[in-house]
Amino acid sequence: MPGILLGDEFPNFEADTTSGRIKFHDFLGDSWGILFSHPADFTPVCTTELARAAKLRDEFKKRGVKMIALSIDSVEDHKSWGKDVMAYADEAGSPLPYPIIADDKRVLSVQLGMLDPDERDKDGQPLTARCLFVIGPDKKLKLSILYPATTGRNFDEILRVIDSLQLTAQKKVATPVDWKPGEKVVVVPSLSDSEATTLFPNGVTTKEMPSGKKYLRYTQI
Ligand code: BEZ
Repeated sequence: MPGILLGDEFPNFEADTTSGRIKFHDFLGDSWGILFSHPADFTPVCTTELARAAKLRDEFKKRGVKMIALSIDSVEDHKSWGKDVMAYADEAGSPLPYPIIADDKRVLSVQLGMLDPDERDKDGQPLTARCLFVIGPDKKLKLSILYPATTGRNFDEILRVIDSLQLTAQKKVATPVDWKPGEKVVVVPSLSDSEATTLFPNGVTTKEMPSGKKYLRYTQI
């Protein structure tokens, strides 16, 4: 079954993009990366998503994340549609601030499990779903989401999960439900209480539970 799982090394594919031919690992360099697919160029939801991604380019840059999009249209179509996207983002005339991969032969879409069997083009061929991969500087897959073509993604949530991924890559913590940067985090279950006390000088508070088990330990980073 095609696809890629958490922890897998992301394929070092070669592809044509709006910025020329790339080899994916070279494109990423030592950065984090997001690769987000969309069903087709010149479609409404995709235009809103790519414009929002463009507007957030400084937020991704601040986090050291390289952005790249993908769909099954050609480089020429991507370049032409990119002008619409930037106009929709109220930046008409500015270049799209990230490349778009032209997967017109659907090679990557199949390899990475991105096709949506329920959405088809006029020739009956499946379109790409709204897939998003976050890749770490070690080139391994850290997160993937898969939405159908009919549901646009929330790019605030994507920034939030990147903040969580980058924090939890550095510290032995996890982020609880609806966490936002600056809020308390939880200590990972694999740490003993004494290790937690040493690692977290701001202190660790344990929530009392009916079971009496002391597994919900908060700290402030
Ligand atoms: C869209 O981007 O608006 C879209 C694309 C394919 C199916 C449904 C919506």
